[in-house]
Parts: sequence; C-alpha cells; structure tokens
Amino acid sequence: MSVLVTGGAGYIGSHVVRLLHERSDSVLVVDDMSSGVRERIGSSAFLQLELSAPDAKQKLTQAIQEHGVTSVIHLAAQKQVGVSVQQPELYYEQNIGGMTNLLSAMRESGVDRLVFSSSAATYGMPDVDSVTEDQVCNPINPYGETKLIGEWMSANASRAWGLRAANLRYFNVAGAGWPELADTAVMNLVPIVFAALKAGKSPVVFGDDYPTPDGSCIRDYVHVHDLAEAHISALDYLERDERKYSTFNVGTGSGSSVFEVLAEIKRASGIDFEIDIQGRRAGDPPSLCANVSRIESEFGWKAKRGLAEIVDSAWAAIS
Ligand code: WQD
Repeated sequence: MSVLVTGGAGYIGSHVVRLLHERSDSVLVVDDMSSGVRERIGSSAFLQLELSAPDAKQKLTQAIQEHGVTSVIHLAAQKQVGVSVQQPELYYEQNIGGMTNLLSAMRESGVDRLVFSSSAATYGMPDVDSVTEDQVCNPINPYGETKLIGEWMSANASRAWGLRAANLRYFNVAGAGWPELADTAVMNLVPIVFAALKAGKSPVVFGDDYPTPDGSCIRDYVHVHDLAEAHISALDYLERDERKYSTFNVGTGSGSSVFEVLAEIKRASGIDFEIDIQGRRAGDPPSLCANVSRIESEFGWKAKRGLAEIVDSAWAAIS
C-alpha cells in the first residue's frame, strides 16, 4: 500500500507515519512545515506544500501519480479553536480550501480511499456526557465548523464518485508513542501544564464550579499511540467491500477531570505544585466523552493506554 499522509510531520501525523513504516507501507508526507518537524518522518518521501496554495492541486496530483498513492490520510489543518474565532477566513481557506484541492487531486488520480482527521469539536456543547456519532453536531467555533464541513465534503465525494471515507472524530489527544514524537505545540492541557512547570509557574485551571464531581471539566483523553493505531485500522476498514459507517469517535469512552489530570502530572513529575484556579473559559462544555461502541465493533479497535500512561509518556519525553 502507498499512503499519502498530509500533515505527516506533525505530532499526530508522525505517529501515523511511524506505524505505516512498521507495516512497511510506502509513505509520502505532504506538509507545509508551519509546525511540522522534518526529522519525525524518517525515510518517507516528502513534499513541502500548503494544500490551499494556488498550485496545490496540480502538485498534489503529480505527487500522487509519481508515488503510486493508493490511500490518503488527511491530517493537515489549522487546529487552534481560539485562533479560528479571531481569523475564520484563514481556517476556511486552509482547512476547507486544502480539503478541496486534495479531493480534486484524488479524483483526478483515481485514488478513492480517505481517512479524514475530524474532531469532537464538531459536536459543540452537547447536552449528553457520552456522545455517539449520531449526536446532532452544532460546532461553536470556526475550527469545529471546518471539520464538520470536511465530513460533508467526503460524504459528497462518496456520492459523486465513489470515495471510500472514514472520518475520525478525535477527542483529547495527549501523550507520546515515542519520546522524539512528543507534542511540541503548547495548545492543550497537558503540554500547557508542562510549560508552566518548566517556567516555575502554577498551572491554571479554568473553572472549578462546573456540575462535575470535583467541579472541573471532564474530557476523554486518548493516547496518541492509540489514536495512530485507529488510523491504520481505518485504512483496513476502507479495504472492506461492506462498510456500514463513515464516521467514528476516537476516544477511550471514559472521562478524566482537569484536577485528575493535574494529580497524574504531580505523580509523574514528583512536583507538588500549586494550582491557580481562575474563572471558566468560554466555550468549555462541562463534560465531553466519546461513546466508542461503533469503532470498537466496526474496527475491532479499543484504546489500550489510560491516563497514567498518557501522562507518564508525555513527561518522560520532556525530562
Ligand atoms: C481541556 C480541558 C480546559 C488548559 C480541544 C479542541 C478539540 C480537540 C481537543 C482537536 C478544558 C482545561 C486547559 C489550561 C485548563 N482538538 N484547561 N487549563 O478544549 O477540550 O479540546 O482539544 O481536535 O477540538 O477544542 O482541550 O486541552 O484546551 O482543554 O483548565 O491551561 O482543560 O478548560 O476543560 P479542549 P484543551
């Protein structure tokens, strides 16, 4: 199998690339290197390209044909919720424009297998704690909107020309499958807390007055290694003639509160740090966990690593 991985030099993408190499799949990485790290992709063929660039469709088509690509895993996207609110045009241009060029290049090249990196942000603030894929999606920021639109685009391509698509709705990804592939961006809870500790500051908790057992928000933290394995399972699913669904939650099915994450970080780091409790952050649902029965039954995939291993692996990577 020859697989194109867009965003393959990124945190999640590089874990997917590593697993593909372990299966001895041929890999082509396309990445604009705005946040990617070239050393992460090993022996993969590489094309530096911003997918929404004017010449991107032609360059993608050429690269797909030159490398005999048979499947695509599409991770390249802007993914900062806050930035998407401030700069929606950038998110529509890159996330939707990039997807448009990619689908066009795939159609022109006869490549009909796509694993699409979607997100739990498509749900917005659902009023249920355990979310199934049938939950009505009401994204509350442009980032989440672009992910839902991406799912619509893959569905329309399936109807129009037979694209086989698997949309993976990531919940909260953290940890490191290999130390050298750790998350170097400081955009989510675990790396943000690590950065605060390294700077000698107290980590911040946005709100301890939520209707949850300890008052802090609950999320479904999934190990990036488990998430990467879900992408490989999705590729295998797309090879089947009978495919009942196209959208899958990727999480553990159980939640952890912010205070529970901090307690794990205290254990892993050995630092009994103070906590700075501040007010709630806009747009935070009190609890958001994946119902994972569909991916477990259709893929036979189940997360193998829990919160302790997530935090241990992330801390070990920076120690
Ligand atoms: C987690 C919890 C914060 C930082 C985002 C994206 C989502 C998906 C996962 C890509 C929240 C709290 C955080 C801090 C805190 N990404 N927190 N102090 O917002 O659940 O989801 O990442 O698909 O699309 O929206 O993740 O890590 O920002 O926050 O108390 O310094 O930690 O309030 O409850 P989030 P997060």
